Amino acid sequence: MNIKKFLTTELMAESAGKHIIEIVKKKPDSLLCFAGGDTPLMTLNYLAEAANQGEVDFGKCSFVSLDEWVGLGKETNGSCKQTLFDHFFDRIPNIDDSQICFFDGLAIDMDAECKRVDHFVAKHEGIDFMLLGIGMNGHIGFNEPGVRVDTYCHVIDLAPVTKKVSVKYFDEEMNVTRGISLGIQHITEAAEVMLMANGEKKADIVELTINTEPTADIPSTLVKNSKHAVLYIDDAAASKL
Ligand code: GLP
Repeated sequence: MNIKKFLTTELMAESAGKHIIEIVKKKPDSLLCFAGGDTPLMTLNYLAEAANQGEVDFGKCSFVSLDEWVGLGKETNGSCKQTLFDHFFDRIPNIDDSQICFFDGLAIDMDAECKRVDHFVAKHEGIDFMLLGIGMNGHIGFNEPGVRVDTYCHVIDLAPVTKKVSVKYFDEEMNVTRGISLGIQHITEAAEVMLMANGEKKADIVELTINTEPTADIPSTLVKNSKHAVLYIDDAAASKL
């Protein structure tokens, strides 16, 4: 796994944004997947500004969601869908809903929801590029420690630390207990995966991710099994290396 370290979060986001723009220029009909959460926000902002200045055209791209809290939809501030639409999709010119396949956390039949998203990825012959954040326990998407590595879309019980950290996203207590997520197979089969972390609070898990052989106990290490993986970190996230 290549590691790219940046002095600041801003420089990291700019470099990530430029890289994604290059990918879209090379393959305008790319299938892209961006994590929710805080980590990619600055990069998404960079991309939205670039799209509005005509530096990149996402008009032929497709997008698949990485994960969602079961029980939450776009109406809930802090859901993955609301975050991605607010910070990215609603700001991009020349893009419509038919290009976007998002988990519906409110779906009654979660198995059907998994199949629907699996089918969308398969129809596009896999994901061209994924931007993933690292959870405090090393989760990627909602692939929590101990996850089966041979899975595609699945529903998973959230780890205690994930439930604890979840309060940062919501205006009020949500009592989330399960997540729906793309699986490790999607990640290892993607043409390119960018794992991203910023801030001192991620320094321990970044150190573990880099210095541990791939193991389901620390899902972020499994990114090393991807065809083409790169870790983007800022100085603070790199402080334990
Ligand atoms: C969250 C999300 C993931 C995200 C990760 C890190 O629980 N489900 O999509 O990438 O955990 O979150 P953050 O970037 O807010 O630290």
